[in-house]
Amino acid sequence: MGYSIFFSIKTICIILVFVLAGTTMSQNTRCPFDLLYHMGDGVFDNGNSIANRPYGSSLPAASLPYGETYPGRPTGRWSDGLLDIDYGAQGLGFQQITAYLSGNASLANAIMFAVARSPVLDRAFFTARNIRIPPYAASLSVQMSWFKKYLSTICITPEDCADKLANALVLFGDVEANDISFSLIQEKSFREVQSYIPYVTEAQINAAREVIQLGATRVIIPGNAPIGCYPFILTELASNNTADYDEFGCLKTVNDLILLKNNDLQQAIDDLREEFPNTFILYADFYNSEQSLIRETTRSSRANFTLQACCGTGGKYNYDSRRFCGSSGVPVCSDPNQYLFWDGIHLTQEANNRLSTALQQATLLALNCTVSQSSQLWSSI
Ligand SMILES: *[C@@H]1O[C@H](CO)[C@@H](O)[C@H](O)[C@H]1NC(C)=O
Ligand SMILES: *[C@@H]1O[C@H](CO)[C@@H](O)[C@H](O)[C@H]1NC(C)=O
Ligand SMILES: *[C@@H]1O[C@H](CO)[C@@H](O)[C@H](O)[C@H]1NC(C)=O
Ligand SMILES: *[C@@H]1O[C@H](CO)[C@@H](O)[C@H](O)[C@H]1NC(C)=O
Repeated sequence: MGYSIFFSIKTICIILVFVLAGTTMSQNTRCPFDLLYHMGDGVFDNGNSIANRPYGSSLPAASLPYGETYPGRPTGRWSDGLLDIDYGAQGLGFQQITAYLSGNASLANAIMFAVARSPVLDRAFFTARNIRIPPYAASLSVQMSWFKKYLSTICITPEDCADKLANALVLFGDVEANDISFSLIQEKSFREVQSYIPYVTEAQINAAREVIQLGATRVIIPGNAPIGCYPFILTELASNNTADYDEFGCLKTVNDLILLKNNDLQQAIDDLREEFPNTFILYADFYNSEQSLIRETTRSSRANFTLQACCGTGGKYNYDSRRFCGSSGVPVCSDPNQYLFWDGIHLTQEANNRLSTALQQATLLALNCTVSQSSQLWSSI
C-alpha cells in the first residue's frame, strides 16, 4: 500500500516535470548534475557576440528591438526575448545562464560559450575557399579553447577536473547550420558543400571526444535545424522551379543536405558511444522538432506568417540582408508571438519556448532528472 502511494506520487512528479518545463517554476526539478556548459551559435548565444570586442556593441542584438518582448531591453540574445536554452536550463533546474564573455563565468554554474553565426569549422577552412565568415564569429575550436581556459580556473589536476566534469552536462549545438548556410549563400554548389560534411562531423565529434576525455559523462549533440525553411535561406536561394519546394514552402534541396549532414552526425555519434560505452551521449533532434513546429503553424490561424520574419522587410519572407532587423526604418511586426522567425535567421521567444518544451520531454527522463521530493509542493504532507 505504502509502496503504491509512493509510486503514484512519483508518477505525478514526472507529469509535473513536463507541465513545469518551459515555465519559471522549474525550481522543483532535480537533475543529477550541477553544471551546464554549452558550445554553439546564435540559437544559444545569450550575450557573447555583443561582448566580443571590437565588433560586439555594434551588432543588431546589442540594440532594440532585440529583447523587446522580454525583458524589454537588449540582452545580447538574437531574439525578441528568451532562447530555447533559457527554457531548457530552467527546465533542468538552473536559476540562470551566464555568457562566458560577460566576465562573470567563474562564479556561474551554467555557462554559455556560444557565439552567434559561428561555424563548426575553423575560419581558415572558409578563407581557403573564399567564403566569408562574420568577424565576430567564434568557431568551435575557439569556443573549446575558452572552455579549457575556464576549466583551468575551477580545477588544477586532471583528476580534479574530471570530478568537476562528471558533475556536468555538456551541450554542443550548431543548429543554424552555419557552415552550410554561409557556403550555399556565397554560391558554392550543393555538391561542393556536401563534400564539407565529413569535416564538420569530424570536428564536432573531436570536440565531444575531448570533453569526454577531460571527464564529461553526459554530452548532448543536437542535429541541425531545417534551414531550408528559414527566411534568409528562402530569400537568398530563391528558385523559380516549384519542384524545389516542399508542401510547406521550404527548400527541399537545402533540407535534404541538412538531413544528409544529420545522418552523418548520428552515425558518428553511434561510433562515439561504442568508443565510450559508459558515457551518456544524446543526439537532440532539432530537425524534426522544428519541422513539427512549422507543420503545426501552417495549420493554424498564423499560417500566413509561418515562413516570414517578424522583424524585417522585403519580398515574400520579409527579409533583406542589407536591411536587417534593427537597421533604421526596418519594421517590426506588432505581435512577435504570432511568428516563428524573428529576424529571418533566429527564432522568436514564442517559437523557442515551444521548441524547448518539445525537446525537453524526452531529455529530462533520459538525464534522470526528477521533481525534488523536498519541494514546497509536498511540504505540508
Ligand atoms: C555580473 O554579476 C554581478 C553580480 O551578480 C551583476 O551585478 C552584473 O550585472 C553581472 N554582469 C554581467 C555582465 O552579467
Ligand atoms: C525567375 O524568373 C524571372 C523571370 O523569368 C527572372 O527574372 C528571375 O531572375 C528568376 N529568378 C531565379 C532565382 O532564377
Ligand atoms: C493568408 O493570405 C491569403 C492570401 O493573401 C489571404 O487570402 C488569407 O485571408 C490569409 N489568411 C489569414 C488567416 O490571414
Ligand atoms: C540514469 O540512471 C540509470 C539507472 O541508475 C543509469 O544506468 C544511467 O546511466 C543514468 N543515466 C544518466 C544520464 O545519468
